[in-house]
Amino acid sequence: MNHKVTVFGAGFVGATTAQRVAEKQLADVTLIDIIEGMPQGKALDVMESACLERFDAKVTGSNNSADCRDSDLVVITSGVARKPGMSRDDLLKINAGIVGTVSDAIKANAPNAIVIIVSNPLDVMTYLAGVRLGFPKNKVIGMAGVLDSARFRCFIAMELGVSMRDVDAMVLGGHGDDMVPLVRYATVAGIKVEDLIPKDRLDAMVARTRTGGAEIVNLLKTGSAYYAPSSSAVEMVSAVLNDEKHVLPCAAWCTGQYGVNDMFVGVPCVLGKNGVEKIIELKLTDDELAQLNKSADHVLENVKNLNL
Ligand code: 2OP
Repeated sequence: MNHKVTVFGAGFVGATTAQRVAEKQLADVTLIDIIEGMPQGKALDVMESACLERFDAKVTGSNNSADCRDSDLVVITSGVARKPGMSRDDLLKINAGIVGTVSDAIKANAPNAIVIIVSNPLDVMTYLAGVRLGFPKNKVIGMAGVLDSARFRCFIAMELGVSMRDVDAMVLGGHGDDMVPLVRYATVAGIKVEDLIPKDRLDAMVARTRTGGAEIVNLLKTGSAYYAPSSSAVEMVSAVLNDEKHVLPCAAWCTGQYGVNDMFVGVPCVLGKNGVEKIIELKLTDDELAQLNKSADHVLENVKNLNL
């Protein structure tokens, strides 16, 4: 039997996630949204591409949150996106209500699912979902580090004119302006980027990565990024459903790692069928660790604003 993935939110991120999951034959997909006809229309549109894209996964749309029943994995993309000038934190109160309701539906109908959160502000929504779901914390994972790292990798590859596939890099911390791109660990085919790119250019790329989401928001004017966010979510879906033990930076529940306690924050994880199977503890410099802790403190501040 095929895996079942439910995607909550049939906006650009959710619908593109559903499309990518189907095209990669990772699972049958149920796409759920409150807007009548929208998830059904997008699901049917994806299905009508199946003979051309050559996949047999089934994609269905629904307005009933109970249709997530018995999912192996659920991706939450529900919520409103940023408008120009808005920070991710501005979305806090609006999206908290939506993500809370969706989490309750998952708890009632798909109690064994692994849940990947994409809604913003990412780390706080992951915390909220973690509390409302009450699932073992390894089964609740926030998607941000994969996206932020993909942006950093993209900027490095464009700067050097090399294949995107040759660039490896990791961004830790919260999904906000104080995220922590780890320059020391960024490589091109195993060569340290610090040996290839002057420091001022690297600093500029770090800054661009930190504001990568806003750069797209400002260009689009009526929404936020969705191609790279959906690819990032699907990288995690694949790691879990195929039990890949893929090492990816994700917002994971920390219990002392990197000095972070009882908080979801972006750290390097091994992802497999049990969700976050391990957090890898890199040896960070004092400065990197201080940046990571500052970022975690910012997440904590916003979590407190939720009054959970
Ligand atoms: C981004 O970084 C929307 O937070 C998302 O593009």
